[in-house]
Amino acid sequence: MSNETLIRVIDGNPDLSFLLSENKKLFVTDENIFGLKSLEGFFRKFSPVNTQDFSKTDISGNTRDTDNFIISGNTHAALYSFENNALVVIKAGEKYKTIDTVLAIVKAALAFSLTRKDFFTTIGGGVITDLTAFAASIYKRGARLEFVSTTLLGMCDAAIGGKTGCDFEDYKNITGTFYKAETLYIFPSFVKSLSEKEYISGLAEVLKTALLFDKKLFALLENEKDKVLSRDDKTIYKMISICSKAKAKIVKKDPTEKNIRMLLNLGHTFGHALESRAGLGVLTHGECVAWGTCRALDLSRSIGLCSDAYYERVKKVFASYGYETNKVHPKFTDSNAILETMKNDKKNSSSKIRVILQKGLCKNVIAEIEDEKLLSVLK
Ligand SMILES: NC(=O)c1ccc[n+]([C@@H]2O[C@H](COP(=O)([O-])OP(=O)(O)OC[C@H]3O[C@@H](n4cnc5c(N)ncnc54)[C@H](O)[C@@H]3O)[C@@H](O)[C@H]2O)c1
Repeated sequence: MSNETLIRVIDGNPDLSFLLSENKKLFVTDENIFGLKSLEGFFRKFSPVNTQDFSKTDISGNTRDTDNFIISGNTHAALYSFENNALVVIKAGEKYKTIDTVLAIVKAALAFSLTRKDFFTTIGGGVITDLTAFAASIYKRGARLEFVSTTLLGMCDAAIGGKTGCDFEDYKNITGTFYKAETLYIFPSFVKSLSEKEYISGLAEVLKTALLFDKKLFALLENEKDKVLSRDDKTIYKMISICSKAKAKIVKKDPTEKNIRMLLNLGHTFGHALESRAGLGVLTHGECVAWGTCRALDLSRSIGLCSDAYYERVKKVFASYGYETNKVHPKFTDSNAILETMKNDKKNSSSKIRVILQKGLCKNVIAEIEDEKLLSVLK
């Protein structure tokens, strides 16, 4: 595993042919990205691979009638190849961020006899990078890894910093490892094909980064909403550049989240609990982080850390992008259950719950808070 990820930002339409390898390589993508117009030429090179060695019946007894499927527990993935390059196409979305999918990727690597010197190469968003990096980290005790990130959320956050993982029994990212990609390729043009919902999801992590570290970025999000929402080229480039650099700087100082990296969890302890309780995949990661950040700032205000005016200002910006900012989220209204899930968050180290709070813009505080105070901003 390399120590630092080299980040390369590449303008223009994404042409991934330079990533094809003479050595063995496994590309991992999801079914939506496999259908993207901008990658048609690249994926067209690959042909289905007959996986007759693998069972075509999953544990629910469903059989597949095509020949290029790998079955792994409750999911399946399609296999393709082009010369020495293999491609596995997994099901899209948080619902499939499971250990079964991790093992489907491992199965694909085994089917092509990848060695630990060969690359796992992702083409996708945060779900694909988290899952594939987890698979690469456990495959033969660690294969090589590189990312092409295709979502705003991935480019600004998820693809940087080496956290890998999958969800388990309704808990977000509860299993995983630290394992960095050698290179991250960012093509900002991928942002253009994201659905509105996924674009807005990514913006939540951009807002989080701005609140934590960058007043100018916050001003841009507050005052130039039209440019942000119209996905103006320069604005997208600016957001990606600031956020990717900010995250890379923090994770370089604290790779395994012993201290300063914890700040990046602003909004996440509340947000992960909502994401799990609403049902994984029901709300986007960003929707939950946005709501969670408002809860963290409401808490900051309620214990006298920040002013009412600061909380109201931030809440107004989140609301202007359409995020839910009220105490009780309409998708999950049981505040006690949210608190219970927060207690199982892996970020806690004592009986109190650790959260990131703020005294004001870019003035961050790591705190451990009792249940009653947390509940007061949940109902
Ligand atoms: N490892 C970390 O440090 C870290 C940090 C933040 C978030 N995350 C994780 O990231 C995940 C969320 O990431 P995400 O929002 O990128 O999710 P995702 O990978 O599921 O992508 C969102 C959706 O957009 C589609 N998509 C991807 N690229 C596209 C494109 N260019 N055009 C059109 N559609 C496209 C995908 O198929 C998917 O349906 C969560 O699981 C979260 O836990 C990880």
